[in-house]
This record gives sequence, structure tokens and C-alpha cells, in this order.
Amino acid sequence: MKHSTLIALLLPLGGVHAVELLSTDYWDIGTDIQGPERLNGVSYQEDVLITHGNHQYVTFYDTAPAGYLHHYVNVGRRQVSPSLGEWEFLTLTDYVQTTMDGHNMISMGISGDGRIHLSFDHHDVPLNYRVSTGGIAEDVPQEWTADLFGPVIHELPGSEGPWDPLTYPRFQNLDGGDMLLELRIGGSGDGDSYIHRYSVESGDWTPYGMYIQGNDNNAYINGLDTHDGKLYTSWTVRETPDANTNHDLFFAYSEDAGQTWLNSQGEQLTKPILADSPDAMIWEVPQNSAMVNQEGQLVDAQGRFHMLMRGNTSGEQLYEHYLRDTEGQWTVNLINPGDISGPDLYAPRGKLAADRTGNTLVALLPDEPKLETRIYTASASDGFRSWALLTVIPNASTEPLYDQKRLRDDDILSVFVRQGGPYPDRKLQVWDFQLAF
Ligand SMILES: *[C@@H]1O[C@H](CO)[C@@H](O)[C@H](O)[C@H]1NC(C)=O
Ligand SMILES: *[C@@H]1O[C@H](CO)[C@@H](O)[C@H](O)[C@H]1NC(C)=O
Repeated sequence: MKHSTLIALLLPLGGVHAVELLSTDYWDIGTDIQGPERLNGVSYQEDVLITHGNHQYVTFYDTAPAGYLHHYVNVGRRQVSPSLGEWEFLTLTDYVQTTMDGHNMISMGISGDGRIHLSFDHHDVPLNYRVSTGGIAEDVPQEWTADLFGPVIHELPGSEGPWDPLTYPRFQNLDGGDMLLELRIGGSGDGDSYIHRYSVESGDWTPYGMYIQGNDNNAYINGLDTHDGKLYTSWTVRETPDANTNHDLFFAYSEDAGQTWLNSQGEQLTKPILADSPDAMIWEVPQNSAMVNQEGQLVDAQGRFHMLMRGNTSGEQLYEHYLRDTEGQWTVNLINPGDISGPDLYAPRGKLAADRTGNTLVALLPDEPKLETRIYTASASDGFRSWALLTVIPNASTEPLYDQKRLRDDDILSVFVRQGGPYPDRKLQVWDFQLAF
């Protein structure tokens, strides 16, 4: 089902900048799973909505015919250029997900050879991984059927483990078509982070080994992003399974796709980086600051690095924007537009996005009490200090996720959300906002 409104809304902000919302469309792409957990629309899905070539791909769980506690992985596609096509879906019925646990989400990556990689259903268990049998996002098949995917396997062919106990797999594309898979081995409060690299040339994986080591704690990364041949990450450290033991903020970047790492000053870090290494720390945040882990990060097209965090160190519970400028200087600004509820420690997490120039930031911020995803913009011209409301996705009980490539290439903010409300009325949706920057 497609829903459409055509509105032109100009948002002047003291004459500083204006982002124009040209149109809004949304599609109900599936029904969310039955049950209390959010298995779809989770902050650490990297990624859920990806444009590759002329198509956009999406992945989600739905409830299998066997009912409650039985979930299938679905993969959808639609043409997005030169014109918009209808969604098509395939369901991978040979694997039944049975854990009611939000950790056990699906991550998807599409390597430069057009192979679609999926990793899913983890909370301290062995790796689950499957990949399309060919480059189906490059050489796009007419039919969209489950037999385009190979079987579920428990290692990355060509690489070496450990593969267990594994959580939070994240894919990250590299220039040239290769792709990384980053993951945690170990548990909350006691875990290590590893990277593997997929080569489009060999079709195989290589181990890059442990790059962050828990020091009787674990790093929770905000994500992985690339810019200008560099790979960036940032994290907070957790001492116990209690999220309020999160503390301090860390940053590192790599010039060789994650084999070796540098700190914010450009100094080589010893590998593995200790999760709470003072050499990588960029901001002190005490425990009990109500700062959640794995919120958002972004490198913009100018090379500025941004983190979306939250906390109450200002005396108020607010979203916070940490900015590393191109000189490597860090600042933090509260995101306080005045019309959004303060995000509690455990409330859904948001994301930061940027336009193709990097001079406009877009913040997708959940407002849990209002059941909304509120979307704001800010401009480099005032150091991203004032946030103007662009639009609101109503009835969303979700951690919003968006398609990075589509925003940078086409000025379309394409957002995946899960609705509020009861099963089976609660839908999974993709919203498209055509913007003019
Ligand atoms: C921040 O939140 C924690 C609980 O999460 C509380 O113990 C602390 O007093 C709060 N601090 C401020 C400044 O509100
Ligand atoms: C949200 O959407 C669901 C599914 O359509 C519906 O059941 C529920 O009433 C809606 N809630 C609100 C507050 O609009």
C-alpha cells in the first residue's frame, strides 16, 4: 500500500538555512512480529535499508505461520531509479528465529559485487550468516525468490573465528567494493570486538582480528563509517550488564580498513585497543549519567565526525551532539529544540544523517511518550547548534534507520520504522522524504 502527500514546507531558520521538504510518501511493507520485543527497527542494525544500483533493499522479521515465537527473515526490494517500482518480498523459511530478544535483529550488507549478506539472530550465540548465491544486486534477477540465497552457515568462508558467543554483527562497505563485518565476541560488560573483510575479488573473507579488547568491560560502538579512505568508529564502555554503568566516550580511525588504528590526535594505538584506553578517550562521562550505548554516529562529506548520544550531565535528560571538526577539535552541544521529550536511558535510540555536502545534519529522534520519530535539521553555518523541526513520523515505536546512499545521492531521506499499536495491526513502514537542501 502506498500513501502519499505532496506538500511544500519551507522552514526558514533565522535566515541561516532552510531545508525544503518537497514530498512525503510511505509504504506498509510488512506486519511486525507478535510479542513484546522490538526485533525490527533496532539501532545496531547496520544496515536495514540499502540502495544499490537502481534498487533499494530492506530486511525484517515477520511471524511465521506457526505463530508466536516463530519468525522468518524477509528481504524486500523495489526499483528506485529511474522510476519507482513496487515492493517485492522473499521469505527465507528454512530458518526459524525463536528468541524474543531485541538483540537478535537482522543486519544486511551489500558488497560491491552485488552479493547480499545477512547476519541475524544473535545474543551470545554462534554466528548465523548467509549470502546470496550470486551478485543479485548487480545482475538483478527478474524473479525475487528465496532460492537466491545460500544456506545459513556459522562461519565466514576463508576467515577464522572465534564465532561464539557472538552479538551485534555490523556490515560496512569500503571504497572499491569490499566490505567489513564487525562483531562482538563475549558478553555485556565483558566482550571483545572483531573485524573481518570480504573481498569482491576472491569472494572470501579474511580475519583482521580483535581490534577492541574488553578490560573486564566491553566497548559498545556507535557504528562504522568511511570517508576519504578512512574508517571511523566511536564507542562507550560498559562495566556490567546495567546500562547505567556506561561511561566515557572513545574514538578511533583507521587508514587501512580496520587493521591498525589511530586516535583523535592521529597517534597510532596499540592493537587491540583496550576498550577503556585513555589514549582513545575523547570525552569523560561518569557512570550513572543515563547515557545509552549504540546510538548514532556519522562522518560528513567534509570529514567532520558526529556522535549522537544522550545523558543528564547537563542536569536535564537530553540528546547530545558531539562534533569533531576537521582540525580534530571536539565540542558537545545539547539538542534542545524545546518540543521533544527527554530520552530516558532505555528509550529508543536515534540516528544522525547528513546531506551530500555535509553542511546539513538531519537528526532522527524518537519521542517515546509521543510515539513519534521527530526529524530535525541543523546547519554547519552555526556549528550545528540550532535544530529546526523538519517533519514527524507519527505512531512510531521504533529506533529509526535510514538509507545513507539514497540521501547522499538523491536527496531522499528513506526511513525504516516500526509502528506503535497492537499486533497484527502494527506495520513496518518505509517513509520517503524528498528534500531540497
Ligand atoms: C542522572 O540519572 C541518574 C539515573 O539514571 C541519576 O542517578 C542521577 O542523579 C541523574 N543526574 C542528574 C544530574 O539528573
Ligand atoms: C498506531 O497504528 C496501529 C496500527 O495501524 C494502530 O492500531 C494504533 O491505534 C495506532 N496508534 C495511534 C496512537 O495512532
